[in-house]
Amino acid sequence: MELLASIDGVITPSATATIPVTDEGLLRGDGVFEVVRLYRGRPYAWEDHLRRLTTSAGNLRLEIDLRALRADIDELLKRAEGFDGQLRVFFTRGGRRVALLEEVKPHGLTVSLATVVYAPTRIMDGVKSLSYAANMLATRVAEEAGAEEALLCTPHGRVLEAPTSSFFYILDDELCTPPLDDHILASITRRDVIGLCGARERITIRDDLPSMTEAFLASTTREVQPVSSIDGRALLAAPGSHTARAAAAFAAQVAGSMNAT
Ligand SMILES: Cc1ncc(COP(=O)(O)O)c(C=O)c1O
Repeated sequence: MELLASIDGVITPSATATIPVTDEGLLRGDGVFEVVRLYRGRPYAWEDHLRRLTTSAGNLRLEIDLRALRADIDELLKRAEGFDGQLRVFFTRGGRRVALLEEVKPHGLTVSLATVVYAPTRIMDGVKSLSYAANMLATRVAEEAGAEEALLCTPHGRVLEAPTSSFFYILDDELCTPPLDDHILASITRRDVIGLCGARERITIRDDLPSMTEAFLASTTREVQPVSSIDGRALLAAPGSHTARAAAAFAAQVAGSMNAT
């Protein structure tokens, strides 16, 4: 399928879609975005993503026209029948309203992690902004260390999340995840996994890492992805039994939601 973009409601091929270079969304990363998974052309948790987008925009003091976005997406999805991929939506400070149909970047069956020091910017709490250069850099730094993805840890040793996904792990035979109070993103997949598997929010420190027996990343695009190693230490099983259960429960939830709509 040809990948399409909608800019302020005008649909064109993504390859030729443009916005002005003077847009502060581009010049300063000043804007908000969401990425939504499309299963056979239908968005998963669309209303949840719209709610988070609205919160992000409010916190960033950015006015957005949600009604217009809904209309744009209705049109775009008519053209995306049966498409397995993702939908990226964003609003820029320059006033552009953009939606893109995209392929899902292929993810491996497992992922190796390297810890990278990262301090969340407090003023950006509750804003999924277009300023993602720090997150992208963290992945590159982890790759330079020989891993596939970063595990973000504060300078004080709190374990947070990955640059574009949430982190879950098994410690003392219990499924845990770092708390939102540690300034991580209120991930929709994280919320689903907690709801489905009863994971406990637990303050997580670097010293916990050697004792973890399983771990996985969770996000809209990765779904549940088993972690094979952290800082070169292999985890016993990837996926282990808890991870496999979480993956199956999330897949069933997605399938149920798709059948219900
Ligand atoms: C920093 C960060 N954490 C976690 C996630 C996962 O969030 P979700 O499950 O809503 O895709 C993302 C997704 O983009 C992210 O950017």
